[in-house]
Amino acid sequence: MQSSLIDSKGRHISYLRVSVTDRCDMRCVYCMAEDMEFLPRPDVLDFEELEHLCSIFIKRGVRRIRLTGGEPLVRRDVDQFITALGRRVDPGSDGPALDELTLTTNGSQLDRHVTMLVNAGIRRINVSLDSLKPERFLTITRRGHFERVLSGILAARKAGLGVRINTVVMKGVNDDEIDDLVRWCGEIGADLCLIETMPMGETGEDRRAQYLSLHEVRQRLAENWTFESDATHGVGGPARYVRIRETGQRIGFITPLSHNFCDSCNRVRLSCDGKLYTCLSSRGAVDLRSVLRGGGSDSDILAAVEEGLAHKPFRHDFLIPDDGGAVQGPRRLMSVTGG
Ligand code: GTP
Ligand code: 5AD
Ligand code: SF4
Repeated sequence: MQSSLIDSKGRHISYLRVSVTDRCDMRCVYCMAEDMEFLPRPDVLDFEELEHLCSIFIKRGVRRIRLTGGEPLVRRDVDQFITALGRRVDPGSDGPALDELTLTTNGSQLDRHVTMLVNAGIRRINVSLDSLKPERFLTITRRGHFERVLSGILAARKAGLGVRINTVVMKGVNDDEIDDLVRWCGEIGADLCLIETMPMGETGEDRRAQYLSLHEVRQRLAENWTFESDATHGVGGPARYVRIRETGQRIGFITPLSHNFCDSCNRVRLSCDGKLYTCLSSRGAVDLRSVLRGGGSDSDILAAVEEGLAHKPFRHDFLIPDDGGAVQGPRRLMSVTGG
């Protein structure tokens, strides 16, 4: 096998996030604007092109792929793509194969896709859920589909999928619900992951007002729950996990603003129009689509990837200063890269 991908800081890139579409059936207040202009369809890679790019990354040592969006399950014929990528999963292989294929979804279309996901070899998924209160859920997502999301989550659990609930914690919006979410996740056997809101693009919301450090939230939670250390989650992602003794489930904390984790970054992102973002906060991207559609060989594509990796930022530059200074982050919305 060829050598694995390494950036200029010596970080091994073994994880690829693939945004399958920039479209979504929700408009979460931290992610999208109410009025969105999506990519023209010809700009979006077809599944054959996406799979081709994935296979190049797999050959160069990527062992985990997470599918994101927008909302991946709203793209037509996504089943075939997921099934095809699932065939590349071989956890025991020494050669070029994936250890794991995973998915992050808003859950609105989950119910009808659960069987396909299980058959494709997906073992665990992350589902966004920022509130257990239907009206509040509607305010946050600006669309709703609460009952469908809940039934999708329950169907996934019933089918044996591991589920992690993703909750973006926002001050004065849903920070009073965290104990309820911990309890509910315990009941349905799901992990919970709390996320600090990252200032990406203009969503029409006040990022500073929304932001709450998870340091505070963690301290509050520790008054009600017993945290035990947990070393079982070896994926090397941004979440730092503990197990909650009372529920038996894990709780993760993703703290881009209050506690940086970039030193252990193992990932890059491919957008649905074939751009490679080497960091979530990168302003620029490497245009793999033009190499691919321009008739470039796999070596040409790899050369472009390596050039991008040589410039992978050492750390992201998201900033929401306490002193009222300017909020800093890329103009690109989160839905372009799927986080
Ligand atoms: P794993 O695959 O288990 O590591 O899950 P994950 O936490 O990366 O996946 P998910 O798609 O559920 O993302 C949860 C949150 O983590 C989202 O808000 C993402 O934007 C954020 N996130 C994921 N990777 C990174 C990263 O490299 N940097 C930053 N700042 N945030 C990230
Ligand atoms: N900050 C933090 N997390 C975000 N997500 C979307 N936008 C943001 C943001 N601005 C989360 C979603 C989803 C995951 C892919 O990214 O809640 O769970
Ligand atoms: Fe859609 Fe996810 Fe963005 Fe919400 S966070 S608008 S569900 S892509």
